[in-house]
Amino acid sequence: MTWEDADPRLVDSAADADDRAVETALRPKDLAEFVGQERVREQLDLVLRAARQRGGAADHVLLSGAPGLGKTTLAMIVAAEMAAPIRITSGPAIQHAGDLAAILSSLQEGEVLFLDELHRMSRPAEEMLYMAMEDLRVDVVVGKGPGATAIPLELPPFTLVGATTRAGLLPPPLRDRFGFTGHMEFYAPAELERVLHRSAHLLDVEVDAAGAAEIAGRSRGTPRIANRLLRRVRDYAQVKADGVITREIAARGLEVYEVDDRGLDRLDRAVLGALLKLFSGGPVGLSTLAVAVGEERETVEEVAEPFLVREGLLARTPRGRVATPAAWAHLGLTPPQPGGGMQQTAF
Ligand SMILES: Nc1ncnc2c1ncn2[C@@H]1O[C@H](COP(=O)(O)OP(=O)(O)O)[C@@H](O)[C@H]1O
Ligand SMILES: [Mg+2]
Repeated sequence: MTWEDADPRLVDSAADADDRAVETALRPKDLAEFVGQERVREQLDLVLRAARQRGGAADHVLLSGAPGLGKTTLAMIVAAEMAAPIRITSGPAIQHAGDLAAILSSLQEGEVLFLDELHRMSRPAEEMLYMAMEDLRVDVVVGKGPGATAIPLELPPFTLVGATTRAGLLPPPLRDRFGFTGHMEFYAPAELERVLHRSAHLLDVEVDAAGAAEIAGRSRGTPRIANRLLRRVRDYAQVKADGVITREIAARGLEVYEVDDRGLDRLDRAVLGALLKLFSGGPVGLSTLAVAVGEERETVEEVAEPFLVREGLLARTPRGRVATPAAWAHLGLTPPQPGGGMQQTAF
């Protein structure tokens, strides 16, 4: 069985159906309720306040950052703070420029257009978007073939909120047309604790300070993961205890789901374990490592490694994958000693 066939990972930062069902209820409704991201919040607050004072639409806003950090939530907050309606669509949903023209030409004055996964929009739609953002104009093409004519249509002032996990993939002309870009960072444990207390309150779950800290430490800096782990631990607390989430209950519950104290799951630990035990910490090539854990190359590279690298447990070097001293410590293993006949962990 490969990873693709297995259950979705508990520590995946993308939303699954279960997340989507509860996320609406857990989303902060205004900037004051939004936890963390101090810089983005302060800057965005200024942008929105200034627009409100002028009585016009806010500048276009680009939000970039990893999945689950609050981009969609902030987009909705922009609309709420401006008391404006919001239209929600995404790059992959707009494959033809005509799809975008239809949306743009029906915008009301001051409306917020939220374009998720902006980097996945088609090129012709992108070009139409530049013009709409800059000149408040779209060319609507009427007819087909040589007889087709472009009818310019004026748009009311609107605010585009774009979200992307890959800001680097956006063509510079598109990026430049945003008045404000917010880079979302991973959350500190204390911030995730606040997210967890807030969510617990909304879900009517009792969690103490140490319980929230235990879940926060395993949430990979990501509110979406924190909320998901909270729901699993709530189930455990309800079935196996009196419903109250303490440190011990959180730790035992997440042990059942194989999410360790640093947020690594079974796949992460399999990759790290193979690197340490079979290859003495590397360097070893990606393909060799993937075969050793019985996974596809892509799964190891795209699913497991980014977090291991971020956590400083694994390094990608020109000679291959290398474990760091922290990796040995995390799995409770002793690195091979220099001169002991085994290759030393390279740094
Ligand atoms: N700063 C935050 N404060 C409180 N909850 C948050 C925050 N950021 C994200 N969340 C929660 O995490 C979930 C995922 O956020 P979302 O905005 O959908 O992330 P993204 O669009 O970046 O993938 C939401 O349900 C929301 O409840
Ligand atoms: Mg989103």
